[in-house]
Amino acid sequence: MQTDSLPTPIPLVDLDRLDANITRVADYAAAHALTLRPHVKTHKSLRIGRAQLDAGATGFTCATPREAEVMRTLTDDILLAYPPVGHARAARVAELARHTRLRVMLDSREAVNALIAAAAGGGGPIGVLVELDLGMGRVGVGTPAEAVTLARHVAEQPGLEYLGVAFYPRHIRGPGVDDALAVLNRDLGSTIDALTRAGMPPIVVSGGSTPTLWDSHRITGLTEIRPGTSVYNDRTTAEIGACGWDDCALTVLATVVSTAVPGQAIVDAGTKALGREPIRGADVPGFGVLLDRPEVYVRAMSEEHGTLELSQSSWRPTIGEQVRIIPNHVCIVTHLFDEAVGVRRHDVIERWPIDARGR
Ligand SMILES: Cc1ncc(COP(=O)(O)O)c(C=O)c1O
Repeated sequence: MQTDSLPTPIPLVDLDRLDANITRVADYAAAHALTLRPHVKTHKSLRIGRAQLDAGATGFTCATPREAEVMRTLTDDILLAYPPVGHARAARVAELARHTRLRVMLDSREAVNALIAAAAGGGGPIGVLVELDLGMGRVGVGTPAEAVTLARHVAEQPGLEYLGVAFYPRHIRGPGVDDALAVLNRDLGSTIDALTRAGMPPIVVSGGSTPTLWDSHRITGLTEIRPGTSVYNDRTTAEIGACGWDDCALTVLATVVSTAVPGQAIVDAGTKALGREPIRGADVPGFGVLLDRPEVYVRAMSEEHGTLELSQSSWRPTIGEQVRIIPNHVCIVTHLFDEAVGVRRHDVIERWPIDARGR
């Protein structure tokens, strides 16, 4: 079967690029003695998770209980990188804890209480990583003293095992990385020192994001990386220089449905296929770019329509022609589809379900 027989819009995964991305990250982690715990939010698929484990991943990072419930069929080594707060989520965490060697990142006593209840349901102790805010300003305790207080509280709880710290450095990307890493190393170092002085040296220091992936060995004390986006990469990752354009493995296949308005073409991929994420970390317009024509980008969208900006291109598409769009943020695309299609050039090689989509 060829890609031109596929219904559009649909995500296509270039299998050679996918394999190369998985291998490159695994080799990097091995070369620097870092535990590799990929974040599955990018692919949400058993097919890809299996390949990551085969390449050397130790276990997975999950954001939602659904991701963890699906991925635990592949490994019992799961990190829930999300506060286990709220009755429904806590109940599912309790069930997960009965069947997996669960670890959880958290930043509050309320979250600890939810975990204590979950641990009482049976299973082994639940590992806890105290989450630090090292500049992103989303979640995480803000000072070494707070980290020590929360770590001590965790360590006192039966059923919980204090393992160390975790952080997510999404704010570090693009120009100025060296300075940002220096600040991060300073703040992480102070926290590790404070915990060590308090008799609780972290065994696990978990961090890493795709933008900082290849600088992970420069983060002092880091033991584990949790890259997500790097398995597919996307326009943002390429624009900020964290991957090459040839490393972008996932594209959205779309069909040109109208050329009636001069200077543009309409494709059948809008917000419900591409998401509406601007690029963070680089000053470029639009919501996606064509794989084979980098001068053509998605200028505007409604739900089922994407507007290709043609002013910088001599290409004039015909109605019915297919295009492949590199999305700004690939994790959103995965979340919008039931299946992905693995391809080599125009040949459809395999299809797999996006098992863990939904919550
Ligand atoms: C806590 C946490 N860890 C790791 C990741 C993976 O980041 P990236 O997709 O940049 O590799 C994310 C992404 O949202 C995250 O929220």
